Amino acid sequence: MKKFNTEYSIKNVNEEVNLKGWASKVRNLGGLIFIDLRDRSGIMQLVVNPDSSCYSIASKIKSEYVISVNGIINKRSSVNKNIKTGEIEVVVNSIEILSKSKELPFEISDSTTALEDTRLKYRYLDLRRDSLKDKLIARHKITMATREYLDSLSFLEVETPILCKSTPEGARDYLVPSRVNKGSFYALPQSPQIFKQLLMVGGIERYFQIAKCFRDEDLRADRQPEFTQIDVEMSFVDEEDVMGVCEGLVKHIFKSVKGIEFNEPFIKMKYDDAINIYGSDKPDLRFEMKINDITDILKNNDSNLFKGVIENNGIINCIVAKNLSDKYSRKMLDGLTEYVKKYKAGGLAYIKYNEEVTGSIVKLLSEDEINNIKDKLKVENNDLVLIVMGDRKIVKNSLGALRIKIAHYENLINDNDYKVLWITDFPSFEWSEEENRYMSLHHPFTMPKDCDIDKLLSDKEHCYSKAYDIVINGYEAGGGSIRIHKQDVQERMFEALELTKEDIDEKFGFFVDALKYGTPPHGGFALGLDRMTMLLTNTDNIRDVIAFPKTASASDLMSNCPNSVSEKQLDELGIVVK
Ligand code: AMO
Repeated sequence: MKKFNTEYSIKNVNEEVNLKGWASKVRNLGGLIFIDLRDRSGIMQLVVNPDSSCYSIASKIKSEYVISVNGIINKRSSVNKNIKTGEIEVVVNSIEILSKSKELPFEISDSTTALEDTRLKYRYLDLRRDSLKDKLIARHKITMATREYLDSLSFLEVETPILCKSTPEGARDYLVPSRVNKGSFYALPQSPQIFKQLLMVGGIERYFQIAKCFRDEDLRADRQPEFTQIDVEMSFVDEEDVMGVCEGLVKHIFKSVKGIEFNEPFIKMKYDDAINIYGSDKPDLRFEMKINDITDILKNNDSNLFKGVIENNGIINCIVAKNLSDKYSRKMLDGLTEYVKKYKAGGLAYIKYNEEVTGSIVKLLSEDEINNIKDKLKVENNDLVLIVMGDRKIVKNSLGALRIKIAHYENLINDNDYKVLWITDFPSFEWSEEENRYMSLHHPFTMPKDCDIDKLLSDKEHCYSKAYDIVINGYEAGGGSIRIHKQDVQERMFEALELTKEDIDEKFGFFVDALKYGTPPHGGFALGLDRMTMLLTNTDNIRDVIAFPKTASASDLMSNCPNSVSEKQLDELGIVVK
């Protein structure tokens, strides 16, 4: 096998070498020909002298030709500090062109201006760019570190099926028609959830898998229809054990891949507190700007605006944008108002605390109220208070989003900073307007907190579960839970979810049956491998960390997929397209 370019250094001067790779750049400097030979590891400068017997071949080489050269390593007179091999070059004495290249649709360079769609169409060319390659290398290091860490704790890597029965994960399934059993379908796994629990029933005790998952849901910058989880399950554990393994793994990954050490335990924040203070169950703690409740201060205000909110059990909350009062013009505030309206907020009120206190609602406030807000929020001169009022969920959600918008706009976030935390004590249920009933926030096998088991049927609103998410810089990097292993609790949970015996039998009867044959207490978690790679390589585009990703409309522009199939194939499956 060939050696990589960057395996050579000043120590190898005068050695004869054979190098292979792509001609990244060719320059003919009136006699001498310089070629930047690129391989996966980096660039090596090649020099071809005019009197060399390979000069005429060298002069035919164009960008992205694949070549093999023999030559002698030479110390360079002027060092190039930008590349690893900058102290040396290879003086070439023979060249073979291994393959030629057509003219490229875009330049292979990290400063390329090519549109993402073009780069996705020619993904194999895009992969030649360092920035993409570096992300795949980081991804590889994460999976290696994962295997190393989990193996050291005696976890077994076990594969689970891709063609399987629908899993209760909550998104829409991708379906695969069965030819042998016409009219029947497999589902692609949204996660290996059921299988990993069955592995615990099967006595495996500690399982992990780098698992492909498939979810047919609306895509976002951090979501792909096909993604990968570092999936873990373990027996005879409680919440602290599972979170301990996950925390240890995350720390090991950061250390191995980035050299970053977290010396303190990750902080834990209850779900309700996260929503109250940050308006999100995945708060970005790299900046402050907490949400404050000023309902109490305004509860006796006479104006119809506040009265209406309070009579409807609404809340009045705000964030303080420090030292931004003079910067935010009326027009900018109108823009922010439109922004919070996307989150269903009725509007955005504001108070500018300068020498004079001004703003959209100041006329409605008494001097005491203005001062009480100032004291409670520790407002200083030139601070801008941004207020949303109304339904609790809408207020928290819109201020949570506004907080992030302003932080990005004002550059309050240091990209090299990592803030990791646990979100714990998730509610067991959430109300579904669509279904007009309570649904599982996670899945129906999530263990309620011990003290809430008796409330499952009588007080769903206040039932909390043994579920946890790990959040890094505002991303949900992973999550998991302790599962129900006792039949009576599982039955009560099904009853709480208003699932009939027929529903249960049809959806996961085999699984519920399996749990009746001696199930160990168990729990686990899954980290999003793609999201971990995004975080460790500082990109906010999930496509950057996947070798062959899909677009926002779930298609692959390179192979033109999904595509129609022949009548014959449909016939075999017994399918007619409507
Ligand atoms: P959950 O659904 O929270 O849990 O998924 C775990 C982690 O997977 C990542 N993730 C995604 N990444 C990219 N694209 C997507 N569409 C996508 N969806 C999820 C996230 C998320 O935190 N079976 C449970 C885990 C368990 O309980 O053990 C599960 O799948 O980083």
